[in-house]
Amino acid sequence: TRRVTVRDIAAAKERGEKWPMLTAYDAMTASVFDEAGIPVLLVGDSMGNCHLGYDSTVPVTMDHMAMLSAAVVRGTSRALVVADLVFGSYQEGPAQALRNATRLVKEAGVGAVKLEGGERSLAQTETLVEAGIPVMAHMGLTPQSVHTLGYRVQGRGEEAAARLIRDAKAAQDAGAFALVLELVPAEVAAEITRSLHIPTIGIGAGPDCDAQVLVWTDMAGMTQGKVPRFTKQYADLRRTLGDAAKAYAEDVVGGAFPAEEHTFH
Ligand code: KIV
Ligand code: NA
Repeated sequence: TRRVTVRDIAAAKERGEKWPMLTAYDAMTASVFDEAGIPVLLVGDSMGNCHLGYDSTVPVTMDHMAMLSAAVVRGTSRALVVADLVFGSYQEGPAQALRNATRLVKEAGVGAVKLEGGERSLAQTETLVEAGIPVMAHMGLTPQSVHTLGYRVQGRGEEAAARLIRDAKAAQDAGAFALVLELVPAEVAAEITRSLHIPTIGIGAGPDCDAQVLVWTDMAGMTQGKVPRFTKQYADLRRTLGDAAKAYAEDVVGGAFPAEEHTFH
């Protein structure tokens, strides 16, 4: 088997095939999704919230991203692994973006990187693509801008919608191979999807995107507390794992574990 490439992603849009993306932050979980046939895995900076115990993506560093991306690459053999450029790792300009993206490709072995912004990240996208690093764009609600945007639907109203469509076209023109649309009205996402030749990947962006992405801990019921309305929960892992821990604890306290079959003489 060979890895999924950005050329496969382009071909899927031509054929009108929808595809799923999930986040992953460690080798073992990534191997489960790889075996399940998820074609693209995102080492998202959502690791800040979902893996590292922060309350946003803002504190995540390039060291975190490089280490966990390498783990996801090691745990998979088929999926295209995409790593986020973290907050502060590309905003200074194309040279900084190239230095950090190159590190993720060389050190971690990822096949592509993702960065937030349309027109504002145009020069960075062009430089990375020119250097041979595939770029996934991300717009709409961009969590690295939580301090200016909050966590609200973006692209509502004519002016905001027009700006989002301009941003999407700018990303495509700069050479991005795909585009995440987060928390935008379905109608705007549908129009962008129709007017671009690169695939859109929706999260809270309605049913008409070419692909969908979910944060794996939300999708599997592992996230503590409230999850966004746009997510769908496919398992109850938090309960399952908690029950396993309680059953193990009971066995140890009551003397039922270890039993004879777990014991050496
Ligand atoms: O970090 C992340 O998980 C993401 C997805 C929500 C697209 O950027
Ligand atoms: Na992200």
